[in-house]
Amino acid sequence: MNDTSFFKWLVIILFISFGWGCNQKTTLAQANKTFSLATVSSNWNKADSLLALMTISEKLGQLQQLDGGISKNDLPRLIEAGKVGSVLNEVNPDLVFKYQKIAIEESRLGIPLLIGRDVIHGFRTMFPIPLAQSASWNMDIIEEGSRIAAKEASSIGVNWTFAPMIDISRDPRWGRVAESPGEDAFLTSQVGVAMIKGFQGDGKYKNGNLAACAKHFAAYGLTEGGRDYSTAIIGERQLREVYLRPFHAAIENDVMSFMTSFNEVDDIPASGNQFLLRKVLKEEWEYNGMVVSDWESIKEMIAHGYCKDLKEAAYKAMRAGVDMEMVSTAYNDYLETLMAENKINISQIDEAVRRILWMKIRLGLFENPYPVKENAASILSKEHLETAKQAAIESVVLLKNENEVLPLSKTYKSVAVIGPLANAPHEQMGTWAFDGKKVDSQTPLKAIQNIFKNKVKVNYASGLEISRTKNHDGFSAALEAANQSDVVLYFVGEEAILSGEAHCRAHLNLPGAQETLLDELSKTGKKIVLVVMAGRPLILTNLLPKVDAVLYAWHGGTMAGPAIAELLIGNANPSGKLPITFPRAVGQIPMYHSHKNTGRPANESNWVPIDKIPVEAWQTSLGNTSHYLDEGFTPLFPFGYGLSYSSFKYKNLRINKNKMTTSKSILAEVDITNTGKYDGKEIVQLYIQDLFGSVTRPIKELKGFQKIELKAGGTRTVQFEISAKDLNFYNADLEFMTETGDFKLWIGTHAASQDFVEFEVVDNAE
Ligand code: BGC
Repeated sequence: MNDTSFFKWLVIILFISFGWGCNQKTTLAQANKTFSLATVSSNWNKADSLLALMTISEKLGQLQQLDGGISKNDLPRLIEAGKVGSVLNEVNPDLVFKYQKIAIEESRLGIPLLIGRDVIHGFRTMFPIPLAQSASWNMDIIEEGSRIAAKEASSIGVNWTFAPMIDISRDPRWGRVAESPGEDAFLTSQVGVAMIKGFQGDGKYKNGNLAACAKHFAAYGLTEGGRDYSTAIIGERQLREVYLRPFHAAIENDVMSFMTSFNEVDDIPASGNQFLLRKVLKEEWEYNGMVVSDWESIKEMIAHGYCKDLKEAAYKAMRAGVDMEMVSTAYNDYLETLMAENKINISQIDEAVRRILWMKIRLGLFENPYPVKENAASILSKEHLETAKQAAIESVVLLKNENEVLPLSKTYKSVAVIGPLANAPHEQMGTWAFDGKKVDSQTPLKAIQNIFKNKVKVNYASGLEISRTKNHDGFSAALEAANQSDVVLYFVGEEAILSGEAHCRAHLNLPGAQETLLDELSKTGKKIVLVVMAGRPLILTNLLPKVDAVLYAWHGGTMAGPAIAELLIGNANPSGKLPITFPRAVGQIPMYHSHKNTGRPANESNWVPIDKIPVEAWQTSLGNTSHYLDEGFTPLFPFGYGLSYSSFKYKNLRINKNKMTTSKSILAEVDITNTGKYDGKEIVQLYIQDLFGSVTRPIKELKGFQKIELKAGGTRTVQFEISAKDLNFYNADLEFMTETGDFKLWIGTHAASQDFVEFEVVDNAE
């Protein structure tokens, strides 16, 4: 028996014996209660017994993640030598199989690889971009979409997704707003949790599940000026209160890994940030999963000006608590030297290795490392496409519908389909669609032609080749199509590449000549339905008056076309609501619903529009409040806004007690009636304001929501239970607690709904 096989047998024997130990301890009757505890401790034991056998070179190997493309030629050799713990971006199932086989059969200890990939909103069946999914406020469908993505990805050997991205994003200039669930900490937490549940399922890779990764830790979305990778300037209270909340929720839902962010927080890059990773994540939150760096983010600490070379970067990242290094090789190049210099000790390295082994054990990779080939049959299956279509339907937000131009009248004999996004199969998939293929996409044009067949004439002319086209060569054909039709469906927006990582914009108008074409189209006098397909909120202020209806469809994925078509003809009723505020102008950014009141809040009566300022007005003679002279103080559309073909009336907002103790809850209720003629869905939103505190509180915070279905004419009472823990915040001493005092509560259709009730939180003793 050679050395390699001796060790492998030893590993197998150790695994089997720990497995038995666990079974003997746990009877079936106890199983439910003790399952997770027993599993956790037996997994840790397995990791420890393996750790005891590893050389320092094998340990460092586990900390290294390499890119399948960049390192292709070296991978077999490195894997065999135990110098790689994970490979990302390898989606050829044969290669994945080969690498796993080398890792299992040819490396000394037979440790399987983590195969990572950005499965962000679908694998081959593309779902709407995460911002759009968040607009559905439908956690069941988000979870299901993630389950489907995991199943498809597992078929080629991916066992770890770098999702969900749960960075609170309040700046639509930032390209990665597309990848986030939007501006709100509560909604983002819910979306993140739904995705984690969907991706991870029972945690076993062989069952088509992936390890999820909560990213990017932390405050990446706070990026200054909306420029990617830039600096997050934030105080600890706001950091904890808003930006860290979704990450804490992710841990409570057992997310298997975390990824650091590119930005610096309080002048220290996240990948070397001891406060974030060591103090908060690993000590305070007791997180026992694994932390991976972002792509070369350890190395980038040199460019940040935080480390003078790669060696110092390795030292600071390890000290902070980054377990695995993505692509750059600081750990492998320098950790041994740093140990020899007594700067890093073996227990720090062991801790990182242990977390990585634990993740592999939890996923069941030692037993089942290979691609789950049988799941390949489900790729683009009818069920997957149907779910993707439903997800796309629920994501679309109806922003305007004057004179009920939608759903399209059954009397129309012809429709014009115009615009660069009407038939753009690649663009509708959106950013991070690495494994989506445009041949799979069903476009709005194709879907509309399909639905109308010989019944309604479809006059198509794109007018503009792509969203950035500036020439007017296609205008005359587009105008002719419009003139020959009863109604114009104008598909505008952004190509997929205009949002996503590093794709930030300073202007948020429609690129190219799309707005000019709209001006020409509106001269035809035809009714115009604007369908916007984009990765972010665009500025619609000038467009709105020129159109009769607006459907905000984001980048809806493979099935965007059929989803939009069904909404247009009324086979489906819009039910999405904005997960992010839509500003009137770029200059208002950042604009979000849960802002502070300031000492001089603006209102309708005290703000002064620029054109009302008298010539040579005395400097302090006008209302000095918090607003813009040229854009006022309100957004174009508030957070949570979205119309339906139905209309919903809210009545009788009430609470069962107007005093609440810190240990008891209260019930808030409202009656909602669908007064329209269509059955529909409404997202009922609960907002609360804590009026005075030891620190100032936001003017409103989302504390709950329910997506309900109501038949035309139907009424339903919607109820929310509120307890003290829902009112928790970080007080003046940074303690997470509820303060007694006065509160306002709204249940409404969006964040600017007016009807409220008041209650008081009192001490238990009162
Ligand atoms: C992104 C991450 C992503 C990683 C791997 C980085 O550039 O910031 O979100 O997971 O690349 O593709």
